[in-house]
Amino acid sequence: MNQVVILAGGHGKRMKASLPKPMLEVLDTPMLGWVIRACEKAGLSRICVVTGYKAQYVELYLNNRYRTALQPEQLGTGHAVMQAEKFMQEFTDGNTLVLCGDAPFMDSDTISGALRLHEEQENAVTVITAELDQPRGYGRILRGENGIAAIVEEKDATEAQRQVREVNSGAYWFRTKALLELLGGLSQSNAQGEYYLTDTIGLALERGMKASAYRTENPDVVLGANTRRDLLHLNEVARQRILDRHMDNGVNFVCTDGIIIGNDVEIGADTTILPGTILKGKTKIGAKCTIGPNCLIENCTIGERVTLNYVQAYGSEIEDAVKAGPFVHIRPNTHLKNGVKIGDFVEVKNSTVGEQTAIAHLTYVGDSDVGKKVNFGCGTVTVNYDGMKKQRCVIGDNCFIGCNTNLVAPVKLGKGAYTAAGTTVTKDVPDYALAVERADLKVKEGYSLRKLRDKLFPPEDGGKR
Ligand code: UD1
Ligand code: CA
Repeated sequence: MNQVVILAGGHGKRMKASLPKPMLEVLDTPMLGWVIRACEKAGLSRICVVTGYKAQYVELYLNNRYRTALQPEQLGTGHAVMQAEKFMQEFTDGNTLVLCGDAPFMDSDTISGALRLHEEQENAVTVITAELDQPRGYGRILRGENGIAAIVEEKDATEAQRQVREVNSGAYWFRTKALLELLGGLSQSNAQGEYYLTDTIGLALERGMKASAYRTENPDVVLGANTRRDLLHLNEVARQRILDRHMDNGVNFVCTDGIIIGNDVEIGADTTILPGTILKGKTKIGAKCTIGPNCLIENCTIGERVTLNYVQAYGSEIEDAVKAGPFVHIRPNTHLKNGVKIGDFVEVKNSTVGEQTAIAHLTYVGDSDVGKKVNFGCGTVTVNYDGMKKQRCVIGDNCFIGCNTNLVAPVKLGKGAYTAAGTTVTKDVPDYALAVERADLKVKEGYSLRKLRDKLFPPEDGGKR
């Protein structure tokens, strides 16, 4: 049985973050999430995450999906792996992959390739390495005549050793039994006074075990984040990679400024994404849409030929040929059916809106079930909250709602019902009826004349009357 130990206990002091470093996000996913995804893609599901600094945040994120082991004090990467000893003892046949929770681009191909080499060569340990133009901050791979000889941390390295550009990714395959033995041999005699996992390489060789390096051709795979600058760099690399993937799928960009697309987002061909648009979570967009400029879409399913301009939408479904914007807020659990039109300053929440209904301006639709081909006048409000509970409005097909109508929930407009402008509807309106709620209009003739006299008929001498 092959298994994984992911190290996520470190503080990440240089980040000055209130979260543990592996919880910091690259695009819309914590770095730890990227690492877990790579494991699962490589078919590895027996995973133990070592937690430590602010472990509760990692626990909350993992939500009991994976085993964890707490490292009460952060005494180094070797010490972190020791905390997973109990987990590893359960299956000592097979291999253990150790990964860093702050190196999100380790991918399933590299993990599988390294395992193949590890098994072919019958190694006790195989470390994944890459050559970087700027190796600063990483452990360096020291090679002798028979391959890898040791890993030296930058802080412990001589000037000559720092010139080496082959670095340790922080990912290793170990034969589980060998790892358990080697952990017992680690000490804290180094510049940082820590138990270094990297020392297992030299130690294995000393004990006559086989150690080897699997060098990947793609240096991005090893990138880690120790500083905010590193994190920004990871975001840039990830962002560009995802944009490239969508372009390969036929998605159109005229300018990529401010466009950020999460890893799980799917977009159909011939859709154009305009600047300032952020697509997050499990968002799925169909073909031939125009999204942007300046949209923020999270966990939405969007059909084909949809146009969204300055729209924020969360947890909702938007069907084909919907047009929305500018300045529209679609809040969770909204379902906009085919051909719905939504104009400026409209908010829709937890509501279904039927085919070809138009909500053109300055309107709030909350907790409502709206039929087909309804027309909302400007300034309609569903009054869904009485201060105690939220209640629903039901609006039938073909209703015509006059401007500035208040619909006080719970209330129902039947099919084809009309409301007069300014009406506050407090009881159900039957099919095809008109609801009017108005006081008589009073008109006072000549009312303003006295007030406006000086403006309209100034005295000839310019003085006061
Ligand atoms: C480590 C490697 C270095 C490698 C680099 C790759 C060691 C000694 N050095 O250095 O050779 O090039 O990763 O990115 O292993 N962690 C714990 N508990 C601890 C310390 C760390 O869980 O006590 C976790 C961290 O949360 C992090 C990972 O282990 O996810 C790596 O720790 P970090 O301190 O970032 O190590 P580096 O200095 O980057
Ligand atoms: Ca690191």
